[in-house]
Amino acid sequence: MAMETLVTQSPGDATERAAARARLDRLWAAGTAFLGSEVAIMAGAMSWVSERHLVSAISNAGGFGVLACGAMEPDRLAEEIAATQALTSRPFGVNLITMHPRLDDLVQVCLAAGVSHVVLAGGIPPGPAIRALKDGGAKVIAFTPALVLAKRLVRMGVDALVIEGAEAGGHVGPVSLTVLAQEVLPHIRSVPVFVAGGLGRGEAILSYLEQGAAGAQLGTRFAASAESIAHERFKAAFVRANARDAVTSVQLDERFPVIPVRGLSNEGGRAFLRHQAETIRRYLDGDLTKEAAQLDIEHFWAGSLRRAVIEGDVENGSVMAGQSVGMITAVQPVADIIAELVEQAVDALVRRDRVTGES
Ligand SMILES: Cc1cc2nc3c(=O)[nH]c(=O)nc-3n(C[C@H](O)[C@H](O)[C@H](O)COP(=O)(O)O)c2cc1C
Repeated sequence: MAMETLVTQSPGDATERAAARARLDRLWAAGTAFLGSEVAIMAGAMSWVSERHLVSAISNAGGFGVLACGAMEPDRLAEEIAATQALTSRPFGVNLITMHPRLDDLVQVCLAAGVSHVVLAGGIPPGPAIRALKDGGAKVIAFTPALVLAKRLVRMGVDALVIEGAEAGGHVGPVSLTVLAQEVLPHIRSVPVFVAGGLGRGEAILSYLEQGAAGAQLGTRFAASAESIAHERFKAAFVRANARDAVTSVQLDERFPVIPVRGLSNEGGRAFLRHQAETIRRYLDGDLTKEAAQLDIEHFWAGSLRRAVIEGDVENGSVMAGQSVGMITAVQPVADIIAELVEQAVDALVRRDRVTGES
């Protein structure tokens, strides 16, 4: 019991903690300056989840919220941006998917609304979209899965990068954040780089700041927050789940690629395997062309994220979640999540100072 008290109590007196907090603020200064937020913690855009309420709550709590445009049409996006602006006077971003057929119109919607930061996701961002955003005064953020692309994106004029490890929820690449950070952070110094994937505690965020990251992006923890509009069954599934329950979708046959998506394993995932097997059999029997079979496999998940997030069908829908889901033990307000992450980073700095004798 005494040991447990020692471990769980916040270390340090008010002076030590203030000094540690000032150090943390210096470590993520490039991130907060870039985002215009109090802490360099971004909430990654999540389709169906990152709407006006969650995004404004995160920005109001000192973090940086990002609206998910997803498949929205321009008018609908304009409405969502205006509604978010009505709920917060702080900066927030908008995430646009580069393969959206009306990307250029969506860019114009963001500029007309005075959106300060636009995240271009889902592929290599087209040069004209980057230029249009920058000419219009917005800052552009892009994802990179490797150092070589990071360098190219910086040359294309991108203002900041996100490196997202395979631990993350949603669509993921193959490389863990541990490795991606070592590949990218020592070599990209001209723009802020934010780290994402598997982050659930402040100590981990601190360790990446010390490797050169400007800040962190989290999704999973915020999806289960009190302000998230996700169905209560969706949040309850997050509270119940362990890290190992957040698995990537399985591809049955290399002739029919499946984009890896990380989510909680459920009946939907098992049905997807059966669907692939059946579709491949129909292709081999000559009932389907290769193209039709591929489309059939891709269409399996259509509408399934909405089914899980909004309708609460966590058995058959797509319950996108990262491995950090195992660290969620309760549905918490966004402000508490952010305060907890900051406190954990401060605790780690104070403990280290005591060991090293620094002040
Ligand atoms: C439910 C859910 C939906 C997501 N949808 C999107 C999306 O529409 N666009 C996107 O760029 N990233 C999406 N992501 C990824 C997040 O923005 C973020 O980068 C990721 O969750 C960070 O890793 P973490 O889940 O380990 O915190 C989604 C993640 C989750 C959990």
